[in-house]
Amino acid sequence: MDLKKLLPAILLLLLWFPGYSQRLAIMGAMDQEISILVEAMHKPKLSTIGGIDFYTGKLKGKKVVVLKAGIGKVNAAYSTAVLTQNFTLEGLIFTGVAGGLHPEALPGDIVIGTSLVQVDFGMLNSDGFTPWNFRNLSGEPHPELLLSADSSLIQLSLQASKLAEYEAISTRAPRIFQGVISTSDLFVSDPVKAKWLYSEFNSLATEMEGAAVAHICRFLEIPFVVIRSCSDNANTDAHVDFNAFVGPAAANSANLVLRMVELMQQ
Ligand code: ADE
Repeated sequence: MDLKKLLPAILLLLLWFPGYSQRLAIMGAMDQEISILVEAMHKPKLSTIGGIDFYTGKLKGKKVVVLKAGIGKVNAAYSTAVLTQNFTLEGLIFTGVAGGLHPEALPGDIVIGTSLVQVDFGMLNSDGFTPWNFRNLSGEPHPELLLSADSSLIQLSLQASKLAEYEAISTRAPRIFQGVISTSDLFVSDPVKAKWLYSEFNSLATEMEGAAVAHICRFLEIPFVVIRSCSDNANTDAHVDFNAFVGPAAANSANLVLRMVELMQQ
């Protein structure tokens, strides 16, 4: 066989294959946050790796892998590590609920995370808490405290947010915010802490996974964005509101993501 003649075909195959094998990852922390997306997939295939259920297949014609990361930064980091070691990703979208911190944010509102910050990583001494920048595996701190999401995915989220259908939870139609999302291993149910997160970090919503996923995506150079819908306001009533609104808020975020995937296919 004349290998020289086959060379162009081999080169074409090599160029085509990485693109072909790439998938968009869509991740949530809980079943409610991913169920709409798995249900919308065409014949999803379930594979369990490292204890994590991965649903692969097409969503609105796009190759995706959908997974539940589990609650908290450790679960989110573990799931992202297993995901990235087993799939070639073109990008990652995190979808789910959060505690709204902006004074005008109401349950059902959307927050598009333009950057993520880990607010329980730092130094605690008698003067209080000083947050630290992210550190990579060699111990080097990242130059900035905030981890920026991918600008194209942010733009796409904004576009999709105008097209998505939402369940109205409060007295008005859901509002769209964009800005910092804060992450900690704490379910925030304290108005003083909520105010501190808003004033100290300019954080519009708080949750328990986003910055951990963002950290790994940045490390591996995977474009990412975090979309959240408010289930509560991180105040004294947070756990009551969370239980009441987690369903519709998770649906609002997932519906936005469905629109994003549609836009990607146009
Ligand atoms: N996810 C939804 N509501 C939250 C809250 N109040 N704190 C942390 N994570 C949340």
